[in-house]
Amino acid sequence: MDGTSEFMRPEPAGIPSAPKPAASAEKPAVTGTLYGVGMGPGDPDYLTVRAVRVLERAHHLVHFCKAGKRGNARTIADAVVQDAAREWPLPYPYTTELHPEDPAYVAALAGFYDEAAERLAAVLEAGRDVAILSEGDPFFYGSFMHLWRRLKDRFPVEVVPGVTGMSGCWTRAGTPITWGDDVLTVLPATLPHATLVERLARTDAAVVMKLGRHLPKVRAALTEAGLIGRAVYVERGTMAGETVTPLSEKPDDSAPYFSMVLVPGEGRRP
Ligand SMILES: C[S@@+](CC[C@H](N)C(=O)[O-])C[C@H]1O[C@@H](n2cnc3c(N)ncnc32)[C@H](O)[C@@H]1O
Repeated sequence: MDGTSEFMRPEPAGIPSAPKPAASAEKPAVTGTLYGVGMGPGDPDYLTVRAVRVLERAHHLVHFCKAGKRGNARTIADAVVQDAAREWPLPYPYTTELHPEDPAYVAALAGFYDEAAERLAAVLEAGRDVAILSEGDPFFYGSFMHLWRRLKDRFPVEVVPGVTGMSGCWTRAGTPITWGDDVLTVLPATLPHATLVERLARTDAAVVMKLGRHLPKVRAALTEAGLIGRAVYVERGTMAGETVTPLSEKPDDSAPYFSMVLVPGEGRRP
């Protein structure tokens, strides 16, 4: 230990503060690094120090979005960067218009990720660092993973972990999620009703994500599994417009993209 924390060093490895000069006119000596940056659950106060450092210095800030809209991950970054020149939006060809297993959706998404990966590869090859802004944690149901899979063997990669959406939600709901030997099951609401019931029936605690139009099915599955009384609905956890309510007291079945249901465990509490 030299007594100097990494935070005090002016130039941490991997993130240059200025564009790297090319070694020759044709090919740079060093390629850029691909960063997957966990942006946390919504409140920018939950960004990590490492995430802020990468956001401040990466040459390109890439964010997924709906066509014509700003991605939520980019909105979180507003607290740190206002620099529009570095922004690189990647609009999805579809979001909820087609079922995720529809062959047309699968083909369109594969083409979208292939093309985006090649465009990013071109700037990485030119020695520029690319940060992909990912809501929550990049390796937890993150779109980043589809670019990572295509680029990880060609370029240096650093993944910056983030506070997950579910962690932000149970924090704001004021409920611990697991005690003692509780088993936690994370379920996408897109699963069939019977699968939801079967999984819910044999877990101690659960998080049901990606609610959207699936909330009526999730409500029915929780009722069938005997868990509706413990279910807590959280919408936009840690963000503006946050809502936390027992699911049994939610009068309607509308749920936005940023919503989930928590079923806190009731395990060993000495
Ligand atoms: C594709 S997953 C991405 C998860 C993300 N990588 C993470 O670590 O939380 C998107 C789902 O995460 C959940 N989610 C993420 N952040 C949330 C938040 N702040 N409030 C409520 N739900 C959230 C929602 O269920 C949403 O449909």
